Amino acid sequence: MTVAQTAYSASEPITTGLTALERFGHVERPDLRYTPEIAEATAPIFEKVKHFIPAIEWAALAPTIHAINKLKKERNAVILAHNYMTPDIYHGVADIFGDSLQLAIEATRTDAEVIVQCGVHFMAETSKILSPEKTVLIPDMRAGCSLAESITGADVRALRERNPGVPIITYVNTSAEVKAECDICCTSSNALQVVESFGVDRVFLVPDKYLAANIGKKTNVEVLVWDGACEVHERFTAEELRDYRRIEPDVKIIAHPECPPEVVAEADFAGSTAHMIDWVKTRRPEKVMMVTECSMADNIASETPDVNYIRPCNLCPHMKRITLGKILDSLVEMKEEVVVDPEVADRARTAVERMINLKI
Ligand code: 13P
Ligand code: SF4
Repeated sequence: MTVAQTAYSASEPITTGLTALERFGHVERPDLRYTPEIAEATAPIFEKVKHFIPAIEWAALAPTIHAINKLKKERNAVILAHNYMTPDIYHGVADIFGDSLQLAIEATRTDAEVIVQCGVHFMAETSKILSPEKTVLIPDMRAGCSLAESITGADVRALRERNPGVPIITYVNTSAEVKAECDICCTSSNALQVVESFGVDRVFLVPDKYLAANIGKKTNVEVLVWDGACEVHERFTAEELRDYRRIEPDVKIIAHPECPPEVVAEADFAGSTAHMIDWVKTRRPEKVMMVTECSMADNIASETPDVNYIRPCNLCPHMKRITLGKILDSLVEMKEEVVVDPEVADRARTAVERMINLKI
């Protein structure tokens, strides 16, 4: 089953029987001409992205950025953006950006009535699970994830039946249905601490076999795996990294733990997207290679002009479904609304809140 085929649809009512557009009302579609006023209002944003977005392209993007930022206020909406969003989204319209853990925590903190999740479907679903009273929109319902699609709730139930008493930890990159069946959630920021929090000899960490293997190497706990993988990170190879090191011997290589263990073994550091960003910002290596999705280096380059980025990146086709145009459509048409069955959401919330309450 693909993400787009799950039980959530744009027009599905919450409890009122009304669509989000009916609940929030119509607004006029903004005029998207590049005027001197818009050029002036968006100049500080252009300053941050001018190394990646040429002025001629900015003239096409700036009116949409301006319109989104105005509409956000009118709709009482907040934009939560993952670190893999493109620089126009990350620097132009995001209110909060971060890794999966930071976005989940922010979803519990915001006072806004509407969350526009700029990321993939499981992230929007996690926001909805944590803030069921809020309207959560995703600009493209088809933004899925190879990890989330690799496992179902029935798979977890079968795993539990065959392995009674073994805790099952789910990586956050799963559907609400899977979270509802697991004992606790984790992200790449806190997976090791979550694994060790049970004080037992064996745990399952599903569905990313590479994250599980990488965490297993750091602990005495036996970490049992599921056969899922991130289609972006599994494409990196250790050979490729060694080739880069031969050409650039002083390059620092930092990798995401969704990469295969032999790739992580070649890296100087491995961590979540937020930890990778912090590492570069604090260490300031002269040359760095971020072994992860392409937009990461683009997004922090303007804040780290002294760092040279070597870019063997892979694009996440799901993350890249989220564009400025679709974010604007989301706010104008109040689509596409993420709805989670309340009974499933309650059980999934327990798993996510257990993780947040560990405060690691
Ligand atoms: P983090 O941002 O939590 O490291 O996750 C990376 C990722 O692949 C999200 O889809
Ligand atoms: Fe899923 Fe990998 Fe894309 Fe993240 S980068 S959304 S884990 S496919």
